[in-house]
Amino acid sequence: MTGPPAPLSPSDVVTRLRAAGCVYAEDEARLIIDTARTPIELADMLTRRAAGQPLEHVVVWAEFCGLRITVQPPVFVPRRRTELLVHEAAAVGQRVTAAGRPPVVVDLCCGSGAIGAALSEALGGAELYAVDIDPAAVRCARRNLADAQVYEGDLFQPLPERLRGRVDVVVVSAPYVPTAEIRLLPAEARSHEPRVALDGGSDGLDVVRRVIAASPPWLAPGGHLLVETSERQAAPTVDAMAAAGLVTRVASRVETGATVVIGTASPVTHQ
Ligand SMILES: C[S@@+](CC[C@H](N)C(=O)[O-])C[C@H]1O[C@@H](n2cnc3c(N)ncnc32)[C@H](O)[C@@H]1O
Repeated sequence: MTGPPAPLSPSDVVTRLRAAGCVYAEDEARLIIDTARTPIELADMLTRRAAGQPLEHVVVWAEFCGLRITVQPPVFVPRRRTELLVHEAAAVGQRVTAAGRPPVVVDLCCGSGAIGAALSEALGGAELYAVDIDPAAVRCARRNLADAQVYEGDLFQPLPERLRGRVDVVVVSAPYVPTAEIRLLPAEARSHEPRVALDGGSDGLDVVRRVIAASPPWLAPGGHLLVETSERQAAPTVDAMAAAGLVTRVASRVETGATVVIGTASPVTHQ
């Protein structure tokens, strides 16, 4: 009769991860060992990581803007480049905070809710709403956004009507990979994150264009729409925002390859 497998030592874990091609095997081993509650769980996590599951799905959390965000598989893993979106949104949100009230913020296409969580933290509080079309993402976001209203549905559609014309900041990291380029993504994304989180249609901007066209009636006077995109997609995103009547500016950060297009509504309401 064979007994339970011998517990894995830290160096066994590093060796298995290195053999599976993990470049940061020591760091990953430490995270997996710290997270596993039993030797059986450790062996299972190691098997999944060696088979190519994203590390964040294996340990069920990701670090984002210094926060520990729960990421239940297969929900999209928040990316470091998205920290620029939070930074820019915090800058415009702080002007509302400085005026003496918490800003009304909508995290559209929220995934795990990482952006909303980080923004709320950066602003010292916000009246926060989040929406995602994927029920798994909504469940995950509800865990990360205890103080927010999280809705399941298509873009602005599930938001309460009372928010129309009241939103100070709409922050969006929607799917923006062109369909034909999905096959070029790293296997961790291609095989382990949902298609609905990645596929932005033929030029990658199908969802983004819908967000931009639908935003103006929801924005408060002088409110802001911030969209994460790529350098290549920035110009058509700017054009779409200008066509929607927003004044635009582009922010980028070379270290993470991040690009954010910011559109600002007129400070006066047009009846
Ligand atoms: C690239 S992921 C980003 C998730 C999150 N914003 C982040 O940065 O971690 C895009 C998200 O948009 C959601 N999504 C796609 N189409 C949507 C739609 N029409 N309405 C609401 N959410 C949508 C997906 O389910 C996915 O969670």
